[in-house]
Amino acid sequence: MRLTLIGTGYVGLVAAVCFAKLGHEVTAVDREQVIHGLMESKLSVWEPELDTLLADTRDSGKLFFDTDVARAAAGADALMIAVGTPTRVDGYTDLRQIREVLGHLMQSGICPPLVIIKSTVPVGTCDELEVSLHAAGLLTEVAYNPEFLRQGSAVYDFLEPDRIVFGCKSHHAETLLRQLYEGINAPVQVCDRRSAELVKYASNAFLAMKISFANMMSDLCEGYGADIRQVVEGVGSDQRIGPDFLKAGVGYGGSCFTKDLKSLLTSGRLIGCSLPLLEATAKINDQRISRMFAKLLSIWMNPIGKRLCVLGISFKPNTNDVRDAPFLALLSHCQRHGIEVHAYDPVVHYVPADGVNVMDSPYDAVRNADAVIIMTEWPQFASLDWPRMIQHMRLPLVLDGRNLLSDEVIAQIIDVNGAIYMPVGRSIDQHLPK
Ligand code: UGA
Repeated sequence: MRLTLIGTGYVGLVAAVCFAKLGHEVTAVDREQVIHGLMESKLSVWEPELDTLLADTRDSGKLFFDTDVARAAAGADALMIAVGTPTRVDGYTDLRQIREVLGHLMQSGICPPLVIIKSTVPVGTCDELEVSLHAAGLLTEVAYNPEFLRQGSAVYDFLEPDRIVFGCKSHHAETLLRQLYEGINAPVQVCDRRSAELVKYASNAFLAMKISFANMMSDLCEGYGADIRQVVEGVGSDQRIGPDFLKAGVGYGGSCFTKDLKSLLTSGRLIGCSLPLLEATAKINDQRISRMFAKLLSIWMNPIGKRLCVLGISFKPNTNDVRDAPFLALLSHCQRHGIEVHAYDPVVHYVPADGVNVMDSPYDAVRNADAVIIMTEWPQFASLDWPRMIQHMRLPLVLDGRNLLSDEVIAQIIDVNGAIYMPVGRSIDQHLPK
């Protein structure tokens, strides 16, 4: 198939290279500056396997780039839109980038028979977009095909998905969509467009809810001397619940959960439908950093002039994305309290915010620190030379915001004179090996 794909953010680019790998002829379209970077193999996102796949699909003549929507759309069997749909300050989803793409199609009068929306859009959007295309005389069908990629494993998730969802009206659209995904072995759900639009939001909302549930229970565990790791192991072993997304910590971050919850709450408000479970999910998450910070203050008493070493800047491992990262919320607490922040991350070397020194190594970052806090569960943080880390510190205090360190490492930390280890959802003495 010939596919034109608009938008080369992490979703668009991953989809473009993966569809090209499946054998389709893909033209990816973006602004000149972005395409220029891609032509030189410069990726704005750090995603495992993406660079190799990009090079392979370009070399095999399956992946092309363009900067002109209409030119790239001419002769294509389908056009997929994967541009950003950020949340506006009033909670509504900003669909301007999608409308801009449609504007190019309407102006040129060129439009493939199927337009597939990949971006996350509020329920009813595909219906509206189709009406405006038809009004402009472009008798194309608009389908919805949500993405469920996780940053850091996006290529794997694309090629080995749990399910593929098509929201479409006609048999023809379904056939084209099935052709597009031929070669991927996963159950396919075909449904109406509005339901498909909601599948995407509801999936993210449910995952965020699981995390907030675990975090809420972790507070109870701390109060009663239970261990959240044991609790979620027991709960998650029930097949009806499942073990994933039950890790307590500093809360979820990233560009999706917070944005999608806000958008879903706005959709509910618009029709007078309250969604209290989702309000609680967001509220619990918003409180995670204050809670972590309170632990720090309980030891420090006076934070002014203290130095905090932060391990992990990205919102999760295997990505350089800092959007809505818990780190940023922590940073603003530190700024308000006059705390100096020295941070280290294996792939983030710059932070778009004042008041932080990004260091080249964890050992540099921890020098003369009054506490170290693990914000992102990069596996390499678990295997640092922790006794050496502690020896570099002014005050030996370790806050493990992701419950990352093993009992063995914790025992090593505590062995260093008077060092304190504070995990999440466990009483402080539980870290000691029995
Ligand atoms: C999420 C969804 O998992 C994807 O299915 C979806 O396609 C994507 O959003 C999207 O809408 O684009 P992503 O934001 O990349 O993917 O990352 P996740 O792996 O879901 O993690 C989100 C946050 O939750 C991270 O900050 C992570 O550290 C945190 N998390 C995750 C926890 O705090 N505890 C857990 O048990 C799991």
